[in-house]
Amino acid sequence: MSDRGVAGRGPGPGSGLEPGATTADAGRPDPGLDQPAADALPPAPHLLVTGGAGFIGSCFVREVLARGDGTRITVLDKLTYAGVRANLAPVEADPAQAARFRFVRGDIADPAVVDPLVEEADAVVNFAAESHVDRSILDPEAFLRTGVIGVHVLLEACRREAERAAAGSRLGPRRRPRRAPRFLQVSTDEVYGSVPVGRSEEEDRLDPRSPYAAAKAAGELLVRSYVVTYGLDALVTRGSNTYGPYQHPEKLIPLFITNALDDQPLPLYGDGLQRRDWLYVTDHAGAIEHVLHYGASGETYNIPGGTELANRELVATLLARLGKPWSLVRRVEDRPGHDRRYAMDGTKLARLGWRNRVPFEDGLRATVDWFRANEPWWRSIRTGDWDAWYERQYGARLSHGLPAADFAPGPAPDPGRDEGR
Ligand code: NAD
Ligand code: TYD
Repeated sequence: MSDRGVAGRGPGPGSGLEPGATTADAGRPDPGLDQPAADALPPAPHLLVTGGAGFIGSCFVREVLARGDGTRITVLDKLTYAGVRANLAPVEADPAQAARFRFVRGDIADPAVVDPLVEEADAVVNFAAESHVDRSILDPEAFLRTGVIGVHVLLEACRREAERAAAGSRLGPRRRPRRAPRFLQVSTDEVYGSVPVGRSEEEDRLDPRSPYAAAKAAGELLVRSYVVTYGLDALVTRGSNTYGPYQHPEKLIPLFITNALDDQPLPLYGDGLQRRDWLYVTDHAGAIEHVLHYGASGETYNIPGGTELANRELVATLLARLGKPWSLVRRVEDRPGHDRRYAMDGTKLARLGWRNRVPFEDGLRATVDWFRANEPWWRSIRTGDWDAWYERQYGARLSHGLPAADFAPGPAPDPGRDEGR
């Protein structure tokens, strides 16, 4: 654990921020940093992006293809309740991008689907997961199927391809020998558990405390075992709380934006003093791409956001931007096992040459604007099973919730003083 600062940040080319704007130089190492790493992928690689119809995966796909550098992408996605085909519509609407894109509906836990796709790929980027902590508390099983069995199926496919590459029988375009595929597992700061003080470093102990975090930690440990045992070319990234356009409205920021737009109550868990480090989605996607190209095999990289806020502070900021009153906030029963704080050290990623580009104020403005402008997108998600989910998760909580008058926003206390586990 360290008290060092997070990765240096600063406005960059992508920070003017049209929602979905391309970080044009993502994936190029920052010159002058201590690691002029070589690109681990061939020119114009073919990427298999699993979970690419979700929030962060679809951002990754849109950003990479919009750059037009010859990269091809196959998305494999099961289209669970969280997968939205329309998230990839901008790619499919552009003929030049569509020519380098393919969508396959399927499960990463199904070898019959996975194996032939990995055979064609230069790299696999695994975003696929059940991703909501509250759902993992109600129904953990799907988290384990995708997070453990699914990751294992992907790793096995990569292992077979690595063996073929070693034997010289893995051939690429024009029947040239092709390298083994590189595998990147997208993980989370939640594997460290709650961090009362300081910042988690990559070698810190894993201490997952929700079924979601445990499934993510298990996936990472499998990846590590394949690196050590089979010499697989694999990496892990651990991103912090991510926000931005296209995020499913079950998560804090989009839930509160969409509820507030409808003047519905905002269910804030417990005392609202839990702290999260917020990362804009294009920065998360850009950092993953950077690590994919320049990360050292077998390594894990934290991706902090650099903006740590108590939930209360975040919600007050959000309401101010929306022009909605604090009285919408209801203090409701806490999430069981709720982690008080996540915070990561970003030195290792900074040394690799990555800098976040989007300041929090710009990212939040772009997010609010996007949800205002894309009402049909979120209304179509808040239909069907949504009402049953909402009732199960929030029905009793909201009927017993306290009004906001008892719970005015104020400065968050020093996390070292009163935020134990
Ligand atoms: P999301 O829930 O929006 O998207 C997940 C996608 O995976 C969906 O498109 C879904 O259909 C697909 N999927 C689920 N199970 C699948 C399966 N078995 N086979 C194929 N596809 C499947 O999630 P997200 O917020 O975009 O997160 C993406 C990844 O990033 C996850 O691995 C998550 O753990 C990680 N992560 C998320 C955050 C965050 O704040 N959202 C932060 C750090 C890390
Ligand atoms: P969330 O977006 O679910 O992300 P995570 O659990 O991965 O951090 O929640 C962010 C924070 O907001 C977390 O401390 C839980 C809190 N929260 C609420 O207070 N109310 C809500 O309705 C939700 C969804 C989250």
